[in-house]
Amino acid sequence: MAQNITPLIAGNWKMNGLRVSLFEVEKLASHLTSGEPPRCTVALCPPATLIAAMNRIAAPAGIVVGAQDCHPAASGAHTGDLSAPMLADAGAQLVIVGHSERRTDHHETDELVRQKAQAVLAAGLTPIICVGETLAEREAGRADAVVSRQLAASVPEEAAELDVVIAYEPVWAIGTGLTPTSADIAQMHKSLRDQLVARFGAKGETIRLLYGGSLKPANAREILAIAHVNGGLVGGASLLADDLFAIISAA
Ligand code: 13P
Repeated sequence: MAQNITPLIAGNWKMNGLRVSLFEVEKLASHLTSGEPPRCTVALCPPATLIAAMNRIAAPAGIVVGAQDCHPAASGAHTGDLSAPMLADAGAQLVIVGHSERRTDHHETDELVRQKAQAVLAAGLTPIICVGETLAEREAGRADAVVSRQLAASVPEEAAELDVVIAYEPVWAIGTGLTPTSADIAQMHKSLRDQLVARFGAKGETIRLLYGGSLKPANAREILAIAHVNGGLVGGASLLADDLFAIISAA
């Protein structure tokens, strides 16, 4: 990992977790506060229903709480949606946007993802903007082209000034136990870094690039050591405090 970037390990609970699940956060908080302080920023993105309650446990332990999506508008007639200012009000500091599950389930386009990222930034929060190719796209030799297009179109111009995080999550690696080879991750992250530097100059060197997709204690050390991998976005393994703590310790 780049020496000048503090890594970020962010858990994405997806549509999992009830109030009873917060005991895992209590456990993680106790792991984090009982030994040496972690050398990375630790974040958890629970369902929005848990943001406020999780924050009460997480904040004293230095765990940042985030959300998983937001509407591009700040308020208005959008029944069932949540805006970035609302998530900020509930205690979120980060918002995942453009996760592949939302791009697929809700037909989110790069344009919409960029608008959501802009809304997150306007609310004073940090977006984690997700990109990643499907298996069909990788097999067709189009992984680079697809991810480059997503990056160019989903990352807003405001990233020149404000803090954004990019997560590379190959769709076929999410929840499958499959991961790309270290060489493939290295190549993709180098390509992402080069594109960010080409677009944003020196600022592009400082943008965190997370890897996501079947990241777990068994592979974390190897993956998190790859150049231009500045942390991870963790799904399944983030639901268990012991697993997430093992990944944090590997960072
Ligand atoms: P898994 O770690 O369960 O593969 O999920 C990755 C992910 O989608 C995180 O956003």
